[in-house]
Amino acid sequence: MGLMLRYLTAGESHGPCLLTIIEGLPYGLTVDLEFVNGELRRRQGGYGRGARMKMEQDRVEIQSGVRNSKTLGSPLTLRIANNVHNSEELPPITKPRPGHADLAGAIKFGTPDARGVSERSSARETSARVAAGAVANAFLGLFGARAVGYVVELGGIAAKARAESAEEALRRRSASEFYALDSEQDAAWRARIDEDRSEGDTLGGIFEVCAWGLPPGLGSHAGWELKLDGALARALMSVQTVKAVETGLGIEAARRRGSQMHDEIVAGLGRTRNNAGGIEGGMTNGQPLVVRAACKPIATLRQPLRSVDLATGEEVRAAYERSDVCVVPAASVIGEAVVAFELARAFLDKFGGDTMEEVRERFDVYAERVARLSRSAEAGSR
Ligand SMILES: Cc1cc2nc3c(=O)[nH]c(=O)nc-3n(C[C@H](O)[C@H](O)[C@H](O)COP(=O)(O)O)c2cc1C
Repeated sequence: MGLMLRYLTAGESHGPCLLTIIEGLPYGLTVDLEFVNGELRRRQGGYGRGARMKMEQDRVEIQSGVRNSKTLGSPLTLRIANNVHNSEELPPITKPRPGHADLAGAIKFGTPDARGVSERSSARETSARVAAGAVANAFLGLFGARAVGYVVELGGIAAKARAESAEEALRRRSASEFYALDSEQDAAWRARIDEDRSEGDTLGGIFEVCAWGLPPGLGSHAGWELKLDGALARALMSVQTVKAVETGLGIEAARRRGSQMHDEIVAGLGRTRNNAGGIEGGMTNGQPLVVRAACKPIATLRQPLRSVDLATGEEVRAAYERSDVCVVPAASVIGEAVVAFELARAFLDKFGGDTMEEVRERFDVYAERVARLSRSAEAGSR
């Protein structure tokens, strides 16, 4: 019996390292560290990042669960070292930043110093999530599926491009310094960020994750915890700065009539369009899976907002320390990772076994059954 795929992250922003422990990977999966490291590098990039990103060059080291580059069916532990680990020396944060975890965390722990809260609420933790998601995405790739995240809107300016396949999305994305599918709007986005930076402000945006090549039937309608859209929403909503999540047309669906919303089913079990974003009843339906997440502007402002010093009770300006201006490109990397992980979990829930060989056999039997069903739906239409 295979375990449910899950992962745990540990580590603080200025502690010695970040750790990810992934449980439930089958025996015999090749772990491609170059791919994982490439995704970690992408997370650190994207126009609009601050000085911290130049201080860290994330690389993953395997601590357990692998022999001769293949998983052993035991927990896989990945470690990312922090080059700068001086958490003991950092001054307290007593002037909580509106929009950050500082105030709620300080109250929760009964301390005027939000430093300890900030050390963990910081998005540095997401490097561990990106590592786990990269392993998951590489796993999906072995079965012809791939999740790709890209920025679709920044500072209120939308990008237009769409892609028909993962390969096309990856090719197009690599040309944009914002990880968008088009580089045409890059100049406008850059100008917007530079303007905000010079004014000591920050800005948000929207990223989309599309997964191509997924089999239909991942997730389940049978129980609320099994619904894949619910799992994806939770995973995306838990990413720092994400304030809203949509599947398919999302909020726009509420404004349409049914006839303008739903995707008609045609011979061969294809669809006329994909307004549902590839998910119906909490299950993948064979169309590309499309989810979007909206990111708020980050909370640390060089021109800080009003706050209260928790040590003195005085009204002050919130704390400022070296910070990013716009993290939406990085958030798209994290979004891709957390989506890939949920998809791999749903995949292993359906096809899981002790070994990659068993997973492959179960997947192949199902894929053949689905192909037969759509062939007969094609034949029946003649
Ligand atoms: C990649 C990434 C980098 C971030 N960098 C910063 C930063 O430099 N300064 C900051 O104030 N917030 C930053 N954030 C956002 C905060 O971590 C986040 O807003 C905070 O933890 C509060 O959580 P919430 O946004 O989910 O409410 C970043 C978020 C992401 C995704």
